[in-house]
Amino acid sequence: MDKLVIRGGTPLAGELTVSGAKNSVLPILAAALLAAAPVRIHNVPRLRDVTTMIALLRNLGADVAGEDTTVEVTQSGVSRFRAPYELVKTMRASFLLMGPLLARFGRAEVSLPGGCAIGPRPVDQHLKGFEALGAQVELEDGYVKARAPRGLRGCRIVLDVPTVGGTENLLMAATLARGTTRIENAAREPEIVDLATCLAAMGARIHGHGTPVIEIEGIPALRGCQHRVMPDRVEAGTYLIAAAATRGNVRLLNGQPSSLRAVLEKLADAGAAIETEPARIALDMHGERPKAVDIETAPYPGFPTDMQAQFLAMNTVARGTSRVVETIFENRFMHLNELSRLGADARLEGKRTAVVRGVARLRGAPVMATDLRASFGLVVGALVARGATAIDRIYHIDRGYEGIERKLAALGADVRRVSGDRATP
Ligand code: UD1
Repeated sequence: MDKLVIRGGTPLAGELTVSGAKNSVLPILAAALLAAAPVRIHNVPRLRDVTTMIALLRNLGADVAGEDTTVEVTQSGVSRFRAPYELVKTMRASFLLMGPLLARFGRAEVSLPGGCAIGPRPVDQHLKGFEALGAQVELEDGYVKARAPRGLRGCRIVLDVPTVGGTENLLMAATLARGTTRIENAAREPEIVDLATCLAAMGARIHGHGTPVIEIEGIPALRGCQHRVMPDRVEAGTYLIAAAATRGNVRLLNGQPSSLRAVLEKLADAGAAIETEPARIALDMHGERPKAVDIETAPYPGFPTDMQAQFLAMNTVARGTSRVVETIFENRFMHLNELSRLGADARLEGKRTAVVRGVARLRGAPVMATDLRASFGLVVGALVARGATAIDRIYHIDRGYEGIERKLAALGADVRRVSGDRATP
């Protein structure tokens, strides 16, 4: 199993190109099943989760051809409608195949999802929506089996929580339903807007994406299209936080500052000088230690849960004490214990709040990655720690961060990937 060995203490400095967004490309790859002709997707990041989604599409019989960061999906060969446990268990986003399969082929069997171990993550809202759209849904042998032999029909769906995946699944399903669908309390994440933009390029009629009410006028068929995936705001925010923690100075290219407002505001509160242009973000700490900043995660446009671990890691070496409140997922503080191994002073107060007292320095130690974003919290800790930190189980990181050691090294970090026992420093 690969490990990442980082010798901390060097401020991150230099320029970095942000990759395409993982959370955008996954639903867009699934959405390609809806079209009647090939869909060409540009700015595709090379990630393990993308490889998994492509394997799932091929398993259904789709042809997926790719060169570099462009991928073309041809759906004409789709002859199976089942997404098997072996593939789904590693990635919760596999469940996004449900909506397109059901809408286009009238049937879908998808294993109940796995993914990051960050608390219970039900799919009840997805299922409630599919039923409202007229599908028969059953749970059998760990699979969700849904059928709509006579097609889906438009309806009103009020989500109990603004779920990102649920909104995406129902949005995709509704594009081919008879009549109009209205999704209320919809999630507003930029990735949903990106997906809707791609669906619109296929001819779908969608209004209100990016707001809590989305209306979809169903049509009989969608055509092929080309789409360029938006920049990954989580990757961008993660490297900015890492730069701030190390008192660094970085410039991000191909970023989208408009999708990162909540994070940029908090980084400014921490003392970062930030300059933005439409597709660029520059951050400079002027060599200063960050100030501790309170955060509370919330659905977009609030502070993203996917950047909580990284920001908390920055707070461990900041001046002062901070409170970090997680409101989206339970059990998303698994990085606390591992950061404590590096000398961080952070403790839980109840289930949803961490109190972090900044210390002057962390010390390198062996740690274990537990989930995708928490893993980068450990990377931030390792980058500021004195000495070497070996981070085990970095397959979690490879799910969602393209070329992590290449990108960190380009910013001056002392980082290498090693396999097995050789990693122990
Ligand atoms: C997506 C993102 C993930 C991010 C999360 C929240 C992708 C591939 N993943 O995950 O990186 O952390 O949004 O921004 O885009 N819930 C229910 N019932 C449901 C669905 C969700 O109760 O049917 C709850 C979840 O338990 C959680 C909250 O809603 O507490 C948000 O989950 P959701 O927005 O669905 O997250 P994902 O789409 O899985």
